[in-house]
Amino acid sequence: MLMLPRLLSMEFCFCYKWRMNGPRQIQNLALIGFMGTGKSCVGRMVASQLHFDFIDTDELIEARAGKSVGEIFAQDGETAFRKIEGDLVAELSRRQGTVFSTGGGLAANAENLKTLKETALVVCLWATSETIWERVRHQTHRPLLRDADPLAKIQRLLAEREPYYRQADVLVNTEMRSTKEVVQQVLHQFRLAQSRPS
Ligand code: S3P
Repeated sequence: MLMLPRLLSMEFCFCYKWRMNGPRQIQNLALIGFMGTGKSCVGRMVASQLHFDFIDTDELIEARAGKSVGEIFAQDGETAFRKIEGDLVAELSRRQGTVFSTGGGLAANAENLKTLKETALVVCLWATSETIWERVRHQTHRPLLRDADPLAKIQRLLAEREPYYRQADVLVNTEMRSTKEVVQQVLHQFRLAQSRPS
């Protein structure tokens, strides 16, 4: 296993086990990571393989609010959106047998990360800012990327969030990997974590 000092240096590791913070009840799986890293798609496939429920936090927030994330940002502000995310994490952590796909900013918050870890293996899907930009550049629904220089915004946000993403239990690099390969790695790591005595 390569021990590399910085997340950005892990571009060539397919999967890197970070740490397990002592014994925990791993009964859920939480996918965290930046926009465009494939959390929703991978999450759906992993949930289906595990016969788990699947919850996409953005979709649940939109369904409950009766409006899109973009509309929540525009009408209520980002702070209100983050409050909804925080309340949702506390609620979701009481579930069992569920794969969560989280919005890119949800885990960039110490309290949310701590709560997720109480019952879930936290897996971060990683990609470089350039790859993220290639993946999202033709999409228009993300309010944070409605910016004069979206690539610079991605670079800045990714750098800000890196210390949080680094605290995931597992990092899976999605660069140059098919979705199927990423799904297999996530499943492998989850089964490993579940088989460890708690
Ligand atoms: C956000 C990411 C989005 C969504 C919202 C804010 C972020 O989710 O929660 O637009 O702060 O990175 P995705 O990561 O699913 O795009």
